[in-house]
Amino acid sequence: MEEERSESRKQARVAMLELANMISVPMSLNAVIRLNVADAIWQGGSNAPLSASQILTRVLPSGVGDPENLQRILRMLSSHGVFAEHLNGSERTYSLTDVGKTLVTDSEGLSYAPYVLQHHQDALIRAWPLVHEAVLDPSTEPFVKVNGEPAYVYYRKKPEMNGLMQKAMSGVSVPFIKAVLEGYDGFEGVERLVDVGGSGGDCLRMILLKYPNIRQGINFDLPEVVAKAPQIPGVTHVGGDMLESIPGGDAIFMKWVLTTWTDDECKLIMQNCNKALPEGGKLIACEPVLPKETDDSHKTRAILGEDIFVMTMYRTKGKQRTEEEFRQLGLSSGFRNFRAVYIDYFHVLEFRK
Ligand SMILES: C[S@@+](CC[C@H](N)C(=O)[O-])C[C@H]1O[C@@H](n2cnc3c(N)ncnc32)[C@H](O)[C@@H]1O
Repeated sequence: MEEERSESRKQARVAMLELANMISVPMSLNAVIRLNVADAIWQGGSNAPLSASQILTRVLPSGVGDPENLQRILRMLSSHGVFAEHLNGSERTYSLTDVGKTLVTDSEGLSYAPYVLQHHQDALIRAWPLVHEAVLDPSTEPFVKVNGEPAYVYYRKKPEMNGLMQKAMSGVSVPFIKAVLEGYDGFEGVERLVDVGGSGGDCLRMILLKYPNIRQGINFDLPEVVAKAPQIPGVTHVGGDMLESIPGGDAIFMKWVLTTWTDDECKLIMQNCNKALPEGGKLIACEPVLPKETDDSHKTRAILGEDIFVMTMYRTKGKQRTEEEFRQLGLSSGFRNFRAVYIDYFHVLEFRK
């Protein structure tokens, strides 16, 4: 019995050291993205295992660089499932796992890499040591405390951050929308669709391609964001503030938006959606949905991780929500019916007026 207790205490100490050193994981991910390691290994799909020196020869034109230090990074990320390590005698080579492949740039120039980089911008990194301040003083977001203004106001003034944000959103949204178009048919019969907080308009572009019944797409986002959005056939970009008013349509789409706002702000945004819809019209919101009970699955950890990100960067009271919390928000904003369709990280939440 005493032996068992001592063994579990040893494991607990090791587990705490693992948690304390977790910061090495995102920072090393950041490093392999900056060094373009995933594309170097992928090479059009060959994914042949390469040593750190071979990778360096591919990513650095001069071929200089420290292979030993790169190998340390690759090895650590292999223990987190990003790379597969192949040991041959004393030689180590690395290929990409399915997780690592999400960092490979696809034929449309997209991947999950900009999302990782966007999360590690200086302005965001500086806010992280102040997470405890969200507990002590929830009146001001840690991001605001260190940068002097809210994140979206800050991004607005930095074209490179706006650009990275748009690429980050596209990289994650495009594969998700492909899954939505396979698993959800709620766009049938819609003629005018508004995407609220639509960023560069990727979601609308894909929805319109599948549903020619949608004759008009309105991509609604902050003026600075739509000013940078590309021309998309059938899509009109409209700049504005969703907290004030939202352009009219017979359906409204919204993805990854409610999470960043407080309950009161969500209510205001959803009431603005309600006003912009005809009787029977629907709001189609895609958001992560928090399970009621906490578990240690990748999905729950990803959602809870983003919950702390939102609390630190956007709103101390912005948050991830359960299905029941979304249902209640809909009811209190004037929607009569609600249904949820599970897709992957995100669910489709359909609110009908
Ligand atoms: C997390 S991003 C989601 C982007 C896109 N829907 C997607 O999933 O790829 C949130 C979007 O809301 C926009 N946004 C933030 N505040 C806004 C406001 N007050 N009015 C309109 N759009 C806003 C941001 O510019 C950003 O494009």
